Amino acid sequence: MSLSERSGSAALLDAQAIRKSFGRTDALQGASMSVAAGEIVAITGPSGSGKSTLLLCAAGVLRPESGRVTYDGQLLDDLGEAERSRLRRRDFGLVLQFGQLVPELTAAQNVALPLLLDRHDKAASFAAARSWLERLDADELADARPGEMSGGESQRVAIARALVSGPRVIFADEPTGALDTVNGERVLQVLLDVARETAASLVLVTHDNRVAASADREIVLRDGCNEQRVDV
Ligand SMILES: Nc1ncnc2c1ncn2[C@@H]1O[C@H](COP(=O)(O)OP(=O)(O)OP(=O)(O)O)[C@@H](O)[C@H]1O
Ligand SMILES: [Mg+2]
Repeated sequence: MSLSERSGSAALLDAQAIRKSFGRTDALQGASMSVAAGEIVAITGPSGSGKSTLLLCAAGVLRPESGRVTYDGQLLDDLGEAERSRLRRRDFGLVLQFGQLVPELTAAQNVALPLLLDRHDKAASFAAARSWLERLDADELADARPGEMSGGESQRVAIARALVSGPRVIFADEPTGALDTVNGERVLQVLLDVARETAASLVLVTHDNRVAASADREIVLRDGCNEQRVDV
């Protein structure tokens, strides 16, 4: 598919004119992002420009004060909390910037959790968890708890958990932030490969120009607004 066809294709996920404040901080002041099915989009911009907030609004974790988020033609605002969390569990895979693993659970239990919550067979859920941990070079961590892992190790476990349910949209906030260059490249490659293999969309928040260069399209934020859209 050519880039012009891509940008012309209908968005699977579309967040338009999003405003979100925290107290007196206007984190987003009308920012927008969209991603088509199978498209890989990078969100970049300086620290504090609203990247994580936009990702969380698009993923239905935060409710914006104004603006519209639609997924597969459905307005997220029309969904109740239970429907939103089911959507996040089944259709979205989220890799957040900070602590997201359940501290009391082992890596294998953390990764299996989305499947277990969806009442999948227990043995099959753990088998899937193990194979994702293996793909992220984290199989030796299966029985470790988050408190026993380095930042980079928990990041790889969190990525395994985001991928285990076969999401249609993968959101990754600085997925290589806690990793050294070699591991960062390896993990990025896994995310790109999985997105391509499963025709999932991938929304990557990053400071890293090399990571952004792997995307089909870059969305640049500055002070809570879109600075420009560049096809790469
Ligand atoms: N939960 C929160 N409570 C208060 N302020 C917040 C919260 N989350 C974000 N902010 C503020 O909103 C603005 C945008 O934050 P956001 O985390 O989206 O930026 P970012 O682009 O992801 O930055 P970074 O690159 O450092 O991760 C910042 O001024 C931040 O301090
Ligand atoms: Mg952030």
